[in-house]
Amino acid sequence: MNFQNVQAGSLIEFSDSIQQLVNHNKVFIICDSNTENCSTILEDTVQFKKSFKITIEAGEENKNIDQVLKIWTFLNNNKANKNDWIINVGGGMICDLGGFAASTYKRGISFINIPTSLLGMVDAAIGGKTGFNLHTLKNNIGTFYPAKLVVCDAVFLKTLPEDELESGFAEVIKHALISDYNFWTQIKNQSFEDYNFRDIINFSINHKLNIVEKDPKENGSRKKLNFGHTIGHALESHFLSLNKTIFHGFAVAQGMAIEAYISYKLNYISKEKYTEIKEFIFSIYQPIAINKIEIETLVGFMSNDKKNENTKINFTLLDDIGSAVYDKYISAEGIVNLMHDFYSYD
Ligand SMILES: NC(=O)c1ccc[n+]([C@@H]2O[C@H](COP(=O)([O-])OP(=O)(O)OC[C@H]3O[C@@H](n4cnc5c(N)ncnc54)[C@H](O)[C@@H]3O)[C@@H](O)[C@H]2O)c1
Repeated sequence: MNFQNVQAGSLIEFSDSIQQLVNHNKVFIICDSNTENCSTILEDTVQFKKSFKITIEAGEENKNIDQVLKIWTFLNNNKANKNDWIINVGGGMICDLGGFAASTYKRGISFINIPTSLLGMVDAAIGGKTGFNLHTLKNNIGTFYPAKLVVCDAVFLKTLPEDELESGFAEVIKHALISDYNFWTQIKNQSFEDYNFRDIINFSINHKLNIVEKDPKENGSRKKLNFGHTIGHALESHFLSLNKTIFHGFAVAQGMAIEAYISYKLNYISKEKYTEIKEFIFSIYQPIAINKIEIETLVGFMSNDKKNENTKINFTLLDDIGSAVYDKYISAEGIVNLMHDFYSYD
């Protein structure tokens, strides 16, 4: 798999590259109800010979098989063939869904990601994972199928709601925690309003690429990127099952706080480092209250996680700020106890 084709810069700068890739073939633009404006910017910037557009209703609850079917049907009705292109213009939801449709339609057609959310730019659009949720199970169906080109233009962040920006920032924090202490101190010593998002996007892209290039199919070190996600995904599944929404990044932020606590309790990091991590995370994100019964439910979701290899639950933990260890298996009972400790339930 080749992941080198991820570019941070303006869409105008990369319009020729997009044009050359799609050449004279048909282009199928996929956006959601909030990113239609972004797709219009794309259409105004690159002169496509023949383009079609489909708009999916925004929201994680729409990352499902019904919308995949809608995209396949749209492609088929417009006679898409093997040489035609999909261009995803949206956040992680559209990149995952459109990437999956591209990877399966006629056994795979090429696609370009134009991520429009911070989370899409620093994480979801890069690295070749596509997929959708099976009922409440997050990303349970998916493929490894990288985009031919990813263009991350920070200009799109201008219309992104503030809480969505904070949600994406959780993945930036994760990249710092698992791989770069200097970057951690840099983001920790600035306030949210002062961040230079162009630099942050560049940094995060490089860190994610470094990791996925070494282990594209997640057989080993790519699992570091799962830090915060075992508990984060369980929280998302729990909220989905209650028909409540939770931002992906907010769930991951809570997951990182708890998984940092587990790292401390299992003697991978000191109490001081855990406190430093927790305080920074909760200075940006409200802690999510979870009661005793919900802990059992969350651990139930974790037991179903596709990363598990036996009856134990697979975690990525920190062994320092800026360094992660993976394949740390903990029993369901052990996690229940650790989560009771974290929430100070006995
Ligand atoms: N494939 C991967 O490696 C990977 C990695 C991390 C996350 N993900 C997935 O990404 C998804 C989360 O991504 P997300 O937070 O971008 O969610 P999202 O795509 O649902 O976008 C969040 C919201 O912001 C809106 N939006 C996006 N860009 C906008 C813009 N420029 N202006 C105005 N509104 C805009 C969207 O319409 C949506 O309402 C989850 O489904 C998660 O599982 C995938």
